Amino acid sequence: MSASHSPLPALNVVVLAAGQGKRMHSNLPKVLHPLAGKALAAHVLDTARSLAPQSITVVHGHGGEVVRAALEAPDLAWALQSPQLGTGHAVAQAVPHLSAAPVTLVLYGDVPLIQAETLQRLVRAAGDGLAVLTVRLANPTGYGRIVRDGAGRVTHIVEEKDASPAEKAIDEVNTGILALPTARLGDWLGRLSNDNAQGEYYLTDVIALAVAEGVPVHTAHPAAEWEVLGVNSKVQLAELERSWQGHLARRLLEAGVRLADPARIDIRGELNCGRDVAIDVGAVFEGKVVLEEAVDVGPYCVLKNVTVQAGARLAAFCHLEDCVVGPDAIVGPYARLRPGTRLGAEAHVGNFVEVKNSVIGAGSKANHLAYVGDADVGERVNIGAGTITCNYDGANKFRTVIEDDAFIGSDTQLVAPVRVGKGATLGAGTTLTKDAPAGLLTVSRARQTTVPNWVRPVKAAKKD
Ligand code: UD1
Ligand code: CA
Repeated sequence: MSASHSPLPALNVVVLAAGQGKRMHSNLPKVLHPLAGKALAAHVLDTARSLAPQSITVVHGHGGEVVRAALEAPDLAWALQSPQLGTGHAVAQAVPHLSAAPVTLVLYGDVPLIQAETLQRLVRAAGDGLAVLTVRLANPTGYGRIVRDGAGRVTHIVEEKDASPAEKAIDEVNTGILALPTARLGDWLGRLSNDNAQGEYYLTDVIALAVAEGVPVHTAHPAAEWEVLGVNSKVQLAELERSWQGHLARRLLEAGVRLADPARIDIRGELNCGRDVAIDVGAVFEGKVVLEEAVDVGPYCVLKNVTVQAGARLAAFCHLEDCVVGPDAIVGPYARLRPGTRLGAEAHVGNFVEVKNSVIGAGSKANHLAYVGDADVGERVNIGAGTITCNYDGANKFRTVIEDDAFIGSDTQLVAPVRVGKGATLGAGTTLTKDAPAGLLTVSRARQTTVPNWVRPVKAAKKD
């Protein structure tokens, strides 16, 4: 069995999230700021969960109750750290919550994009000792440096503020992410001192304690640098967002999706694409979106929890939420499909048409300026421009039913509850308040007349 496929040892995860995040200049605690539509700490927790640990403990402090309320879940334990005396002190608060699992993995709530594969490598690297996730940086300023002996073995970590000029020249840094032997942790943390430049209890000092006891110290490395970048400011948050979106875009391209510009797509959730999908610039995907084979998404469309079936086309500037677009349907430009909309095969919904909680059957068309709400529209129905389903009487909502092959003339109001029979025609301008029988023309407007000898009013002459 290869190392990468051997079972992962049982784990505890500790997520440090007590820091304040002053440089965000925000009332929202730092770890709740969104990246790809999800709180920073929620990324970390989801990744932690994917490792199926025996416990997850979140160390919270500043704005702690808000953080807890936002992230609360039955699988999380919470440890309050107040005051915040350093990363070693933070992990010590979590110790009472740890299970006997042999390895305890320490993650940061503000390092959102750490990947599960990297953590698995780190945990496996820990083996009979501990492992530090390290990376070489062109500019290591601000980070703890990894100090090694002549044989290349890690001896300790020195923080920037405590480092000598020679140590500052080391470009291998501590990402902060560690895999530690649970059994030794309590003892090591209890022996930390705060006799250093920052007067803090440094978690990193456990490395020297391990070395002194002959516990082996290993290192592992992330696949990409962005995995270990932290967020301390809005600038860093925006940069990390672009790194992540770039990564997701590359993954789509590699899977065969055509992106007009990989730098102009935003995925804030899960996007699954079939073969030969094409996505134009400015598209935003939220929640769970499925684009089946040969779907074409035009520029500046926003899709949230949507399935678009094979061959359907969304023209520019469409907004879709909680709906299903049938195969080979054509939507937009400028269409809005609200929750509960289901478009059948080859349906057309055109510009400035709003559809809500309605089924529009196969081959039916609403091509211009319409509101279709709470309606069941059959197949091959034509809905004329300016048609409105009056579904709301100010208190309650009612359904409109339009059966197959009906033709709804322009500027028609259907006052629900009302039914249009199969093959019926409604004359333009009709206000339908009673059911329209199948196969017949129903018109409600007054008959057109021309008034003889009618004279346009003229302006009264001004008196002086
Ligand atoms: C820490 C590491 C440093 C590493 C760097 C990577 C230590 C002593 N130093 O430094 O080696 O290169 O991270 O970014 O560990 N936190 C708490 N409680 C505290 C202090 C911190 O929960 O009392 C949390 C913060 O919210 C943050 C994380 O721990 O998520 C790291 O804290 P931070 O102050 O950013 O550590 P650094 O000084 O950057
Ligand atoms: Ca930091």
